[in-house]
Amino acid sequence: MKDLLTIGDYEPNQLQEFLNLSESLQENPQPVLAQKNILFAFEKPSLRTKVGTEAAINHLGGNVIHIDPKVVFEYEEDPFGCRESLADTMKNISQWCDAIFSRVFSHDDLKVMAANAGIPVVNALCNLHHPMQALADLYTIQKAYGKDETVSVSFVGDANNVAFSLIEIGLKFGHDMRYSGPKDYYWSEDQLQYFNLLAVEYGGSFSHGSDPHDIVKGSDVIYTDAFVSMGEEDILEEKLRKFENYQVNQKLMQSAKPDATFMHCLPAHRGIEVTDEVIDHPNSLVYEQSKNRMIVSKGVFAGLITESVPEVSKQFNYNGI
Ligand code: CP
Ligand code: NVA
Repeated sequence: MKDLLTIGDYEPNQLQEFLNLSESLQENPQPVLAQKNILFAFEKPSLRTKVGTEAAINHLGGNVIHIDPKVVFEYEEDPFGCRESLADTMKNISQWCDAIFSRVFSHDDLKVMAANAGIPVVNALCNLHHPMQALADLYTIQKAYGKDETVSVSFVGDANNVAFSLIEIGLKFGHDMRYSGPKDYYWSEDQLQYFNLLAVEYGGSFSHGSDPHDIVKGSDVIYTDAFVSMGEEDILEEKLRKFENYQVNQKLMQSAKPDATFMHCLPAHRGIEVTDEVIDHPNSLVYEQSKNRMIVSKGVFAGLITESVPEVSKQFNYNGI
């Protein structure tokens, strides 16, 4: 597989290979990316994904080149309206670099990039998916609960990129994945059908509903993300109103298992989607997740650039829309 655009593109054994490689490179660093250049093209701000991944690439002897996103993403159909097409930009970058790591507003741009780049394109978050976060989250869960344990993970909050990739990877590993959020910002019927298919195929379970206390009953992990994602500032007030019953607070944590852990991709909006007492509680895994973003980036870039993750045929994928 050349690219990592979605979790759905990979089978569980390939995803586990990325995690195993990550762990071994973390414990026994090797200069496997020496002489390799990885281009970072970010259309939106980032702390963990950008700095954590650059640190990982540095540890493995590689080099990062940051490009002004305008040069990549300000393309238009009119040839005189911009410098060059996204496709042409990719064909040029492929002459000098060994991989592209890109955060975009539109998943469609990533598809064009992957189709025209001769080098791996890795999704650093788009409107639909956050595969690098999901891999680090699975790694965090495996470290906290054990690789062979099945856990119950409830995502409470926005049915968006982070939640999608998390539910997808959890179901691919046979976990009990649950979701609760307001009906106005819910999964589409297609997305729900896809989750149900994944649950059947990989032996996990998927449940969902609008009452968060009901959904989290008996869960090991409660996960949330920002209620308002980057680029949604125009609907901030409306979303904050719709999500006000979905805050992860002590009361909600008490509805889960007594020793339940808390996860969040970060950045967190304290007092909005999560309270201080939950995020700062000893059972909060948020800084483990943050640390693991760096560790897991090692396995992904080393695996894709050195082609050390084996190909297997895929059975299910969800194309977004
Ligand atoms: N979780 C995450 O992707 O964080 P950044 O936006 O800071 O990269
Ligand atoms: N859902 C958030 C995740 C940030 C890491 C966003 O897209 O802004």
